[in-house]
Formats: sequence, C-alpha cells, structure tokens
Amino acid sequence: MSSHDTPLTVTVLGTGLMGAGMARSLVAAGHRVRAWNRTTARALPLAEHGVEVVADPAEAVRGADAVLTMLLDGPAVLDVMRTAAPVLAAGTVWAQTSTVGPSSQRELAALAAEHGLLFLDSPVLGTKSVAETGKLTVTAAGPAAARPVADRVFDAIGGRTVWLDGDAADSPASALKLVLNNWVLALTVATGETLALAKGLGVDPARFFDAIEGGAMDVAYLRIKGAAILGGDFSPSFTVEGAEKDLRLIVAAGESAGVTLDAAAAGAERMRRAGELGYAGEDMAAAYFASFGPDGPPATS
Ligand SMILES: NC(=O)c1ccc[n+]([C@@H]2O[C@H](COP(=O)([O-])OP(=O)(O)OC[C@H]3O[C@@H](n4cnc5c(N)ncnc54)[C@H](OP(=O)(O)O)[C@@H]3O)[C@@H](O)[C@H]2O)c1
Repeated sequence: MSSHDTPLTVTVLGTGLMGAGMARSLVAAGHRVRAWNRTTARALPLAEHGVEVVADPAEAVRGADAVLTMLLDGPAVLDVMRTAAPVLAAGTVWAQTSTVGPSSQRELAALAAEHGLLFLDSPVLGTKSVAETGKLTVTAAGPAAARPVADRVFDAIGGRTVWLDGDAADSPASALKLVLNNWVLALTVATGETLALAKGLGVDPARFFDAIEGGAMDVAYLRIKGAAILGGDFSPSFTVEGAEKDLRLIVAAGESAGVTLDAAAAGAERMRRAGELGYAGEDMAAAYFASFGPDGPPATS
C-alpha cells in the first residue's frame, strides 16, 4: 500500500459556510475527518456525512496528521489554536486557510513555530458552493516538509493549488488573497450602489443590463450579485460581516504599505451600515441596503 492509499486524519476547526464543505470534501477523498465548531450545533449535521464532530478543539486535533483552520478572522484563529496547538506533535501540518491578512498570519506562524508545527499560509479562493464541490483554488506557501501531507489535503478541498515561493511567515499567499478580495469586494459594492442608484432614479435595471450586454463593462460577477439583489435572495455565500472584516484588513494592509485605498475604506463603512441594518449574516450583496434608510428602498420610483 502506498502512502497515498493510507487515509490521513485531518481536523477542521471552523465549520461555517466554507469549513463545512471543506470537511465533506475531505471525507469524500477518503480521509478520516474530525471537526470542531464554536457553535457545536452548526457542525452536527456533518456527522451524517462521516465527519466526527468533537466538542473541544484540543480533543479534536489530538493525533491529527493535519489541522485546517477556517474561522472568521485572525483573533479567532489565534484563540482556538492557543488551545489546540500544545496538543499537536511537532511536525504536524497546520493549513491556515481563513482570510486573516498578512499581519495576523505572521502572528499565527510564530505560534506554529513555538510548537514545531509545519505552518502553511494557505487562503482559498471560491465560495460556499465551490467549497461544497471540492473545487476551491488554494494559494499556498510553506515548508517543503509539509508538502506530502498538504498536497493531499489541498487536492481534497480544491481543484487547483498554486504554490507560491517564499516563507509562510512572510505570508505571500495572504497578501495575494487581499489583492484578489479587494477586486471582488469593489465589484460587490459597485453592483449594490449602481442598482440602488437605478432604484432611486427610477431607471429599470433591465435597461442597464441591456445597455452593457456583451461589452467591456459587462462582468459576470455583476450579473451574479445583481441577480441576488433584484431577486431578493441574500442567502449567504460570503457574509456582510466577513466582507467588512476583509475590507478593513485590506485598508490596514494598504496603510502599512503606504497605499491609500479610498474605495475599500468606503466599502468597509458600507458593510458596517448594512450590518447595523440587520444584514450582518446575509450575503454581502445585501450591502445594497446601506444606500437606503431603515425603511429600505422606496417601494416605487
Ligand atoms: N464564504 C466565502 O466565500 C469565503 C471564501 C474564501 C475565504 N473565506 C474566509 O473563510 C473564513 C470563514 O468564512 P465563512 O464564510 O465560512 O464564515 P462563517 O460562515 O461566518 O463562519 C465563521 C466561522 O468562524 C467561527 N468563529 C467566528 N468567531 C469566532 C471566535 N471568536 N472564536 C471561535 N470561532 C469563531 C464561526 O463559529 P460559529 O459557527 O460558532 O459562529 C464559524 O465557524 C473567513 O476568514 C473568510 O473570510 C470565505
């Protein structure tokens, strides 16, 4: 039996929109999968898919070949891994896939180093549905010694892994992730504002979509988020809360590099207001509502 026939034991810490699909993909690839989530009830449905749900993060990671963190932000990952890391054997692979930004990723790399873990700066591209089908794109940087295990984990959750040169402690993949998210979040914010303006001015959105069809201004992402807004379907692929978090990471990373990002800063405020209006857990397309007062968009006009 080759080492590739032997299932790995992989622990997923965080089974939100993304982590749940990733855990299921790991099971589908034949691995033994344990999962922990702060709200255990949210992880329990995974048991039906062959995931062992464990109530304590330290117990969940005991004896794992690899740990995958998929939590909201850097402070959450740090908090959970401070509990879990001491239980892990030196040489265990830690794939840090949450979007935490380069500075938090460096802090997490330092925690990994304290415990002799093989740390990977490995944020993912793709959203809930892509995670559920095991087709994420993984961007990764980290030690060569992690590769035999990491490649198998990433092959299970993703359709493609892009290995980047450089040390995980310098977080090159997290830097790339922020650049990518700046683009997609700018599109999301612009989609919401453009459709809000159309609503306010009494312009039929169909006219707008007709006018750009097939031209350089037409963008697939505008069509997806535009359809969500016009159809009133805000079931989350990526939440308003997550989008605000990422926009603030983007602004802070820009600032520390001497780069001013006006649109990202405005986008973060827009997401914050949408959250205040009650849309924090809805899809980020709901930032549309930040254009209107508490009574929402005008019924007509
Ligand atoms: N959704 C996407 O399209 C997408 C794509 C790529 C990357 N990401 C990134 O992936 C990560 C997870 O995103 P998601 O969309 O899966 O988010 P989500 O559905 O909101 O899940 C967030 C997860 O973090 C946990 N969490 C939050 N605060 C915590 C804390 N203080 N301590 C412990 N656990 C905490 C949540 O636990 P509870 O269930 O108890 O709240 C949940 O497991 C984020 O960094 C996000 O930016 C998301």
